[in-house]
Amino acid sequence: MQALHAPPALSPAILPELVDALVDQGWYVGEGALDSTLCHELHAELRALAEQDALAVAGIGRGTEHTLRRDIRGDAIHWLDRESLAQRRYLEAMGELQRELNRALFLGLFEYEAHFAHYPPGAFYQKHVDSFRGRVNRVVSTVGYLNPDWPADGGGEMAIFAADDPQREVARVAPRAGTFVCFLAETVPHEVRLTRLPRASIAGWFRRNASLDGRVDPAR
Ligand code: OGA
Ligand code: MN
Repeated sequence: MQALHAPPALSPAILPELVDALVDQGWYVGEGALDSTLCHELHAELRALAEQDALAVAGIGRGTEHTLRRDIRGDAIHWLDRESLAQRRYLEAMGELQRELNRALFLGLFEYEAHFAHYPPGAFYQKHVDSFRGRVNRVVSTVGYLNPDWPADGGGEMAIFAADDPQREVARVAPRAGTFVCFLAETVPHEVRLTRLPRASIAGWFRRNASLDGRVDPAR
């Protein structure tokens, strides 16, 4: 019942600005773009997963190249699996965003994958881009933040760097509930600065179908 009356998970009012920002600068940051009740529910779900030990230490690289590197990233993750109404609402909103990006920018995005991420105090994720070596699969990255309060000295900001000058920081985003970030996965360097508080987010990627010889590329 709740979903019938719930406001949209991602405010449709931001879409024109989001599309323009992706075209003009390759990234978009929207404060208050995500519904606050939904952020609250997703945050509770992530905390419950952490308590049930249902989070996996995150690695880098796919398949056989997958390795754990705490010196590179220190978060623990859980892939969204549509198990709760809150997850389905979030994923439905991303489906709408996918349709809008395809309509406005002809990106040919064909699927979306996302995981909860929990960064314990002291964790960070070094500067990186989201596309894996030799594969053009992740086209657009999204991050939704779930933390109800975030003090100025909490750390854990996401820093975004210029695609044409990876040393030049162009935005710094506090991981506050409601904030939604979107950027070009292959070209926009970004990092998660050391967090002093437990930090909750949902990182996700729109993918293009890069299948070869009938092999769906790639697995997670
Ligand atoms: C990632 C990532 C940013 C964040 O998971 O690739 O860059 O703020 N996450 O959680
Ligand atoms: Mn990333």
